[in-house]
Amino acid sequence: MAEVRTAHTADLDAGTLNAARVLLGGAFAGEFTDHDWEHCLGGVHALVWEGAELVGHGSVVQRRLLHQGRALRAGYVEGVGVRADRRRRGYGSAVLGELERVVRGAYDLGALSSTEEATAFYAARGWALWRGPSSALTPAGVTRTEDDDGGIYVLPVSLPLEPSDELTCDWRDGDLW
Ligand SMILES: CC(C)(COP(=O)(O)OP(=O)(O)OC[C@H]1O[C@@H](n2cnc3c(N)ncnc32)[C@H](O)[C@@H]1OP(=O)(O)O)[C@@H](O)C(=O)NCCC(=O)NCCS
Repeated sequence: MAEVRTAHTADLDAGTLNAARVLLGGAFAGEFTDHDWEHCLGGVHALVWEGAELVGHGSVVQRRLLHQGRALRAGYVEGVGVRADRRRRGYGSAVLGELERVVRGAYDLGALSSTEEATAFYAARGWALWRGPSSALTPAGVTRTEDDDGGIYVLPVSLPLEPSDELTCDWRDGDLW
């Protein structure tokens, strides 16, 4: 019997955070970097437990996304992963259900960058592919992030979005989207 719990990073102990990091390392087949982990921190985590074993994780952190002259408060979803031997049991959906609740309650929109494998998963939940150009607000100014075009999904909440226009993310180390 699995249980989903949410908690802010501040309320998770070191053992749980380490378990989440190990889980994501496995879920992303070793392609999960220190920066990727850092991007998961400082917001709300959704954790799927089978007893004392962590089998699913995702988190939502605040970022600013520039769009049509406004700095939108975005709930940015990071580190969504389910242990390989526990997939297609609804655990990923349970994680997203909690994260979407947080997004709808606290942010102007949700956003994320999807792996190729997960596009059907997000689309089935109502996340919309961003069709316009993507960019980032870097220390050198706004810079196109064309490699990320076609992989960014948004969950509209309260504000009208024009999905063929530019969407610009704030600056950070590691992957910008
Ligand atoms: C993406 C991921 C989190 C999905 O977790 P999950 O627990 O298997 O997801 P669910 O069981 O809740 O799936 C719900 C629905 O999403 C869709 N879906 C999930 N995985 C899918 C896949 N690999 N291909 C196509 N559709 C998929 C299906 O419609 C599925 O419903 P169904 O099983 O009734 O057909 C998991 O595959 C994973 O950890 N992948 C590796 C890491 C990754 O790519 N994470 C996404 C980061 S952006």
